[in-house]
Amino acid sequence: APLRLWGGRFAGGPAEALAKLSVSVHFDWRLAPYDLLASKAHARVLYRAELLDDAELAAMLGALDDVGADVAAGRFTATIEDEDVHTALERALVERLGTLGGKLRAGRSRNDQVATDLRLYLRAAVRQVAAVLTELSEALVDVAEEHVATPAPGMTHLQHAQPISFGHQILAHVHAFARDVDRLRDWDRRAAVCALGAGALAGSSLPLDPEGVAAELGFDRAFANSIDAVSDRDFAAEFLFAAAMIGVHLSRLGEEIVLWTSREFGWVELDDAFATGSSIMPQKKNPDVGELARGKSGRLIGALTGLLATLKGLPLAYDRDLQEDKEPVFDAVDTLLVVLPAVTGTVATMKVRTERVAAAAPDGFSLATDVAEYLVRRGVPFRSAHEAVGALVAWCVEHDADLGEVSDAQLAAINPAFTPDVRDVLSVAGALDARSAPGGTAPARVREQIANLRPTLAAD
Ligand code: ARG
Repeated sequence: APLRLWGGRFAGGPAEALAKLSVSVHFDWRLAPYDLLASKAHARVLYRAELLDDAELAAMLGALDDVGADVAAGRFTATIEDEDVHTALERALVERLGTLGGKLRAGRSRNDQVATDLRLYLRAAVRQVAAVLTELSEALVDVAEEHVATPAPGMTHLQHAQPISFGHQILAHVHAFARDVDRLRDWDRRAAVCALGAGALAGSSLPLDPEGVAAELGFDRAFANSIDAVSDRDFAAEFLFAAAMIGVHLSRLGEEIVLWTSREFGWVELDDAFATGSSIMPQKKNPDVGELARGKSGRLIGALTGLLATLKGLPLAYDRDLQEDKEPVFDAVDTLLVVLPAVTGTVATMKVRTERVAAAAPDGFSLATDVAEYLVRRGVPFRSAHEAVGALVAWCVEHDADLGEVSDAQLAAINPAFTPDVRDVLSVAGALDARSAPGGTAPARVREQIANLRPTLAAD
């Protein structure tokens, strides 16, 4: 019969239908290394509590290390008969130590164990996510650096609005990802709580050492309330929010890549290694990475909303519903770790068609605001200036002309405030340079942003 962590009061084993519903080992097995780490720390706690003697501690730690090596090498694997990772690893221990293996569970419940394991796993995974996120930011900053002075159409409502530095636009994405990294760091501060010692929910009558075990496992502190320790999944939900936010940022960048690679924009040419073809249309070169970045964000949002729905009605303390916390968390980590490197590769290898981007910058009367501000500098109230430039644009639309193609006479006819020197502001480069306030799109300011961002990326 399979080894179970319970059964003394039961006449028989669980129904197959229950066992199938209950089993989690096929997904929580990835917690095995963390469970073993926590087990070693707990063994030392039992030793300090004089519940294990020297020889027993040595045997216990040796066996846990052996199990760890066997797990890492694939020599020990869980079977579907092992309800969960904790059950499987206790089986491994008992196989090696006999009855001594049964001593480790003293003062410990799977409830405090699983909360601790998941925090350990996620703190390590989050460091990995932050590192790959930083690689994406670096790739974006490299592109931005090359295009500090490349004028591009800046858009609102996806319509030409005002010219911007293409580098400035790229850096806007970097700032979003920098906030994500900051959020992950901030998350870690709150997540660094160890649940071991909380037991099932009420703590233990044995002299355990929650603070000591927390420190040994690299946590900042032990739980302050044993009920909260086993009930709290804020750290999982908060991580899923951070992951969903990263997904949303990736989706918005992905959408821009999709637009930029369209024939209509033609701003970006993807490297062959980061584009896909069509099974029927031989000419196709598709931006699937951008689309999958966009698509996977839906999945990340789903993980967050799914977990929140699981948590919302739960009475304290532990409920088995909490077993549903792991798959969304694992899926979000896995999703980010496949999407991010692909987006980074896409960005790092794409070719920006500088001429084409720059040529589009003045399209759509994007210098109209500069003309209005020229009038403001000459004392015209902005309300009237806006009106006058609106009339100028309307004339140009009607006559299929650019702002710079209107004759002196026509300018004066549209509004007497227009004198020929208005053409001085009809320069895209001038428009960029003029926006030189901090955070502006002037190339000098964009260079400053890069100089400020670089060291923060290097620190990650
Ligand atoms: N596998 C469970 C989980 O992931 C931990 C076991 C707690 N089970 C229990 N019957 N108290 O949450």
